[in-house]
Amino acid sequence: MRLSGAKRVVYKHLNMEDLRKQLTEHRKEGKRALIISDGVFSMDGDITPLPDIVKLGEEFDAMTYVDDAHGEGVLGDHGRGIVDHFHLAGKVDIEMGTFSKAIGAMGGFVAGDSDLMLLMKQRARPFLFSSALDAPEVGAVLKAIQILERDDSLLKKLWHNSSLLKTELSKIGLNTGNSKTPITPVMIGKESDTLEISRIIYEEYQIFASPIVYPTVALGAARIRLMPSALHSEHDILKTVEAFEKAARKIGLI
Ligand SMILES: Cc1ncc(COP(=O)(O)O)c(C=O)c1O
Repeated sequence: MRLSGAKRVVYKHLNMEDLRKQLTEHRKEGKRALIISDGVFSMDGDITPLPDIVKLGEEFDAMTYVDDAHGEGVLGDHGRGIVDHFHLAGKVDIEMGTFSKAIGAMGGFVAGDSDLMLLMKQRARPFLFSSALDAPEVGAVLKAIQILERDDSLLKKLWHNSSLLKTELSKIGLNTGNSKTPITPVMIGKESDTLEISRIIYEEYQIFASPIVYPTVALGAARIRLMPSALHSEHDILKTVEAFEKAARKIGLI
């Protein structure tokens, strides 16, 4: 956005009325417009209302762009991501993703129509002035995608682990916020409590769950973000919940 020199207008989180208001106020100021959103939001695990964004894009003649770093390998059929989850194939102009989350490697991609890709290859400075991915990384990415295409059992296990974790955490009175995905924030609030819980579960249970505090999230909205994987066992999940229960009781949170 910065490199394009375009004017930036920010709309309120998940708020389509506000997006409409901003488009109504500002759309005429430019020849082109691009509505940008994360697909899955990294800190809360909530999901953007992509069908509404696409409709507003059509209504206001604005292109659409989704950063699906946290949706790929998680949402949609065989982990195809948020565009597939909402059955919007071909309706979102640009999809950006990373291989560093569910895919388990490094690197990323931008997908769009062939004219846009040509333009990116010729003009996108961060792409032009970066080294290419190395071969082992590309091999790992291709293999991960093949596994996802072939078999969705890992995906099912991920969602099973995620719902087990959320259900068990809420049974002991902990709040996992508005997450609609396996990203599981344990909302604690105070920064010092969050650091203390993280310390207790590391020292007493050898579970490393790093605290997320201000300025990564708003002051007073500190949390410990958990991300179950398909390779965790039920035992791992229950042990984690037990550790949280013990730590939260110790500091009087529950
Ligand atoms: C929404 C979102 N997009 C992009 C990225 C960047 O991915 P990478 O670290 O693989 O460059 C991240 C986090 O790392 C993210 O949370």
